[in-house]
Amino acid sequence: MPLIRRTLDLDRFVVARDTTDGALVGVAGSFDLTLTVPGGAQLRAPGVTWVSVAPSHRRLGVLRNMLGELHARYRADGAAVAILTASEGTIYERFGYGPTTFVDEVTIARRTARLRAPLAGPLRTRAVTGEQAREAIEGLHRRWHAATPGSVSVEQFWELFHADPEWVRWGGSARRYLLHPDGYATYRVDEKDRAQLEHFAALTDDAAADLWQAVLGLDVFDEVTADLPIDHPLREMLVDPRSLRVTARQDRLWLKFLDLPAALEARAYDHDGDVVLSVDGAAYRLTVIDGAARCRATDEAPSVRLTGATLAGLYLGAVTPSTMARAGRVDGDYALLEIFTTARQPELGTTF
Ligand SMILES: CC(C)(COP(=O)(O)OP(=O)(O)OC[C@H]1O[C@@H](n2cnc3c(N)ncnc32)[C@H](O)[C@@H]1OP(=O)(O)O)[C@@H](O)C(=O)NCCC(=O)NCCS
Repeated sequence: MPLIRRTLDLDRFVVARDTTDGALVGVAGSFDLTLTVPGGAQLRAPGVTWVSVAPSHRRLGVLRNMLGELHARYRADGAAVAILTASEGTIYERFGYGPTTFVDEVTIARRTARLRAPLAGPLRTRAVTGEQAREAIEGLHRRWHAATPGSVSVEQFWELFHADPEWVRWGGSARRYLLHPDGYATYRVDEKDRAQLEHFAALTDDAAADLWQAVLGLDVFDEVTADLPIDHPLREMLVDPRSLRVTARQDRLWLKFLDLPAALEARAYDHDGDVVLSVDGAAYRLTVIDGAARCRATDEAPSVRLTGATLAGLYLGAVTPSTMARAGRVDGDYALLEIFTTARQPELGTTF
C-alpha cells in the first residue's frame, strides 16, 4: 500500500458520484486529530482534508453536500470542533469556519543576523541524520503539541515524514535536522539556495536560543526562510531587527464549532468574566470563575453578537476582541470578550 494511503482512514471519507454515469466527481474526508487549546486540554478534532470537486461539477453544491454529511458524522461522534487548512480564503466561512491561527512568512538575512546574547559554543544543538533524529523528534513533537495551543497531533504522518519521498519536497532538498534535548528544527535547501525552515519547535527559551544560533550558523546560506507565529521573539533577539523581514502574513488553521459549550468549556481563561453571547443567532451564557468556564444555552438577552467564524478567531487568542470590534465583526460590548485573550499566539506548526 502506498505511503500516502496509509495516512488515510477511508471510513472517514465520503465521495460524490454523478447519478447519470456514476463518475466520481468529489471527495472529502478527515484525519482524526487532537487540537491543544489554551490551558493544555486536547480536543478530538476532525481535520478536514482532501477536499476536491471535479472541474465538470463545480458550483453545483457537491462540496456543500459532502461537508453536510461529514459535519453530521462529527457531531454524532461528539466532536466539539472541526478544523482544516484552506487553499483559498473565500471557501469555508460560509460553512462556519474562521481562521484561528496565523503565521508570518519571514526571510532572515543570515549574514547580518546576529543574536543580541550569543551563546558561548559549543552549542547543545547537533546536526544529525534523519535516522538519528527519528525517535527524539517524535517525542519532542508530542511534548511540544501538549504545550502549544493551536497545534495538532501528527501521529499518522510519522511514517511519511521519516520516508521524506521526493514528492513532498516541493523542489527542495532532502530534509536536514538540527536536534536539541528540548527542541528541534528541520529545513530543506530550496530552489533559490536558501535554507527553508520547515519545523521549528522549542520547549524552552534556552532551547530556542540554542537552535536559532545553530540556524544562523548555517554559513553556506545567504538567507533563511521560515513561517513563524506572529508574536515570535526572533526579531527582538537580533542585534539588527531589519535582518528579519516579514514577507507575508497568512492564515493557517481554520476552526468551526460543532458543540460550542463543550469547546468553550475545554479551554482555560486568564481572566474571570460573565457574558451572554449570541453566536450565529443562538444565545449562550459563558461564566468563567478561577479560569474555568461554564457555558450553557440560554434565553437571556445577549450583550454581544458575533458569528461562529469570528469567535473562531478569538477562541485560541489569535485575534483580540478589540481588533474584531474595529473590523465591525462584534456587535455590542466587545470588552466582555476580553476573557478570550491569551498571553501567547496559538501555533499550528504543521500542515495537513
Ligand atoms: C473549492 C471546491 C471544493 C468547491 O466545491 P463545489 O462543489 O464547487 O462547491 P459548492 O457548489 O458546494 O459551493 C458551495 C458554496 O461555496 C461557494 N464556493 C465554492 N467554492 C468557492 C471558491 N473557491 N471561492 C468562493 N466561493 C466558493 C459556492 O459559490 C457556493 O456558494 P452558495 O452557498 O452561496 O451557493 C472546488 O472548487 C475544488 O475542488 N477546488 C479545487 C480544490 C480545492 O481548492 N480544494 C479545497 C482544499 S482546502
